[in-house]
Amino acid sequence: MHLEAVLLALLTVTPTAFAAPNATLPYSTWLATSFLSKKPVNNNHYVSNVINEGIQKAATLHKNATLLSFVSNQISSLVAENGTIKGWNPKAYSLDDIRVGNNFLYFWDSEGRTNEKLKTAATALRQNLDRYPRNPSGGFWHRDPTYPNQMWLDGLYMASPFYATYTSYFEPTNTTAWNDIALQFDLIHAHTRNTTTNLLYHGYDESKTAVWADPDTGASPYVWNRALGWYIVALVEVLQVFPQSNPGYARLKEYLTTVADGVKKAQDTSGGWWLIMDPELAGAEGNYIESSATAMFTYAYLKGVRTGLLDKAYRDTASKAYSLMTDKFVKVETNGTLSWEGTVEVGSLKGDASYEYYVGVPLSENDGKGAGPFMFAATEMELWKAGA
Ligand SMILES: *[C@@H]1O[C@H](CO)[C@@H](O)[C@H](O)[C@H]1NC(C)=O
Ligand SMILES: *[C@@H]1O[C@H](CO)[C@@H](O)[C@H](O)[C@H]1NC(C)=O
Ligand SMILES: *[C@@H]1O[C@H](CO)[C@@H](O)[C@H](O)[C@H]1NC(C)=O
Ligand SMILES: *[C@@H]1O[C@H](CO)[C@@H](O)[C@H](O)[C@H]1NC(C)=O
Ligand SMILES: *[C@@H]1O[C@H](CO)[C@@H](O)[C@H](O)[C@H]1NC(C)=O
Ligand SMILES: *[C@@H]1O[C@H](CO)[C@@H](O)[C@H](O)[C@H]1NC(C)=O
Repeated sequence: MHLEAVLLALLTVTPTAFAAPNATLPYSTWLATSFLSKKPVNNNHYVSNVINEGIQKAATLHKNATLLSFVSNQISSLVAENGTIKGWNPKAYSLDDIRVGNNFLYFWDSEGRTNEKLKTAATALRQNLDRYPRNPSGGFWHRDPTYPNQMWLDGLYMASPFYATYTSYFEPTNTTAWNDIALQFDLIHAHTRNTTTNLLYHGYDESKTAVWADPDTGASPYVWNRALGWYIVALVEVLQVFPQSNPGYARLKEYLTTVADGVKKAQDTSGGWWLIMDPELAGAEGNYIESSATAMFTYAYLKGVRTGLLDKAYRDTASKAYSLMTDKFVKVETNGTLSWEGTVEVGSLKGDASYEYYVGVPLSENDGKGAGPFMFAATEMELWKAGA
C-alpha cells in the first residue's frame, strides 16, 4: 500500500471527536511532532529513551525522514566518540539505566551495523549485567544499593528486551544467557502472580525484609498498573527474539497468555485500567483510570496479535482502550499540537507501598512514560488499520 493510501485509510478511522485543525497527521507522528516542539530533555535515562523509541517507531512506519534523523541524532549524542555513554557510571547498578541499550541496538542495526560507537556502548551495558548484583535465586536486584534482593515488574522491562536483543545479535547460541533471561520472568511469575486474578503484584523481596513484603511470598501488596504494563510489554518484546528451541520460550509464552487474560478481565467498561488493579479496588476512593498503563496494555495486545503471540480477540480489548485514549488522554491544544494527559508521575516500592501512597502520587502532563507508550500503541493501531 502506498503511504498516501495508508494516510487516507487512517484519516477515515480518526474519531470525529478529533477532527481538530491540524488533524492531518496520524496520531503517532502527530504526537511525535508535538513532542519535538516541546524540546524534551534528552539523556541516557529510560524516560527519554521511551520517548525516543516512540518517535522512532512513528518515523519508521510513516517513512518520515525528518523525525527519524532527529531521533537518530538524539541517540548518537548520548555516546562519546570512544563509545562511552555520557553521564553513566559503569560501576553503578540500576536496571533503569540499561533500557537505553535498545535504542543503541536499533540504530546500530537499522543503519547498517557499522556504527562502532553504538556497539561499544551497548556492549558496556551488557557487561554491566555480567557484574550485576542478584538475589540468591539469580534475580537482578532492582537497584544497588537501594533495593537489595528486590525484583520489580518494571525492571523486567528495563533490562530484558535489551539483554535478549543483544544476545540475539551477538551471542545467539549462548544458552546460559537465554536461560538467564527466562529465569528473570520465572522468578517474577512464581513470586508475584495472584493465581485467581492472573494479575501480578508490583514486586517481591526475596529476603522478605521490606516493610511491604508478604511473609510467605515476599510480594508487595498491590497490583500497580504501570508495573504490569511494563511487564507485559517486556514479554512481547522478548518473545520477538527468544529462540523457540529453548524451553524458556514456551514458559514465557504461557506467562504472556496468563497475564493477557488477567489484564483483559480487569479492563474497566470505559476501556481503561485502574491505577490499582486489584479487582476489589475498582472504583475505590482515590483510585482512577490511569493513562500510561492503558497505553502499554494496548500496545502489548496489538503487537502480540500482529506477531502471532496472542489471540486476535484481544484486538477488541485494545480498540476499546485506544478510543478512550484518543477521547480522554490525548488533548488537542489550540495551536494544533497534541498533549498527553493522565499519567501518574511515579510508583515505587521505596516506602510502605500502601494504597494511600499509590493513589496520592500526582499526575503529570506530557509524561514520557505515558506519551512514549501511546506512540508505540498508535503505530501498532496504524499498522493494523493499514492492513498489516
Ligand atoms: C514529518 O515530521 C515532521 C517533523 O516532526 C513534521 O513537520 C511533518 O509534518 C511530518 N510529515 C509527515 C508526512 O508525517
Ligand atoms: C571517552 O571520551 C569521553 C568524552 O570525550 C572522556 O570523558 C572519557 O574519559 C573517554 N574514555 C576513555 C576510556 O577514553
Ligand atoms: C553467555 O552469557 C552468560 C550469562 O549472561 C555470560 O556470563 C557469558 O559471558 C556469555 N558467554 C559468551 C561466550 O558470550
Ligand atoms: C488474589 O486476589 C484476590 C482479589 O484481589 C484476593 O481476594 C486474594 O486474597 C488474592 N490472593 C492472594 C493469595 O493474594
Ligand atoms: C503549542 O501549545 C502548547 C500548549 O500551550 C505548548 O506547550 C507548545 O509549546 C506549543 N507549540 C508550538 C509549536 O507553539
Ligand atoms: C497548526 O499547528 C501549527 C503548529 O504546529 C500552528 O502554527 C497552526 O496555527 C495550526 N493551524 C491551525 C489552523 O490551528
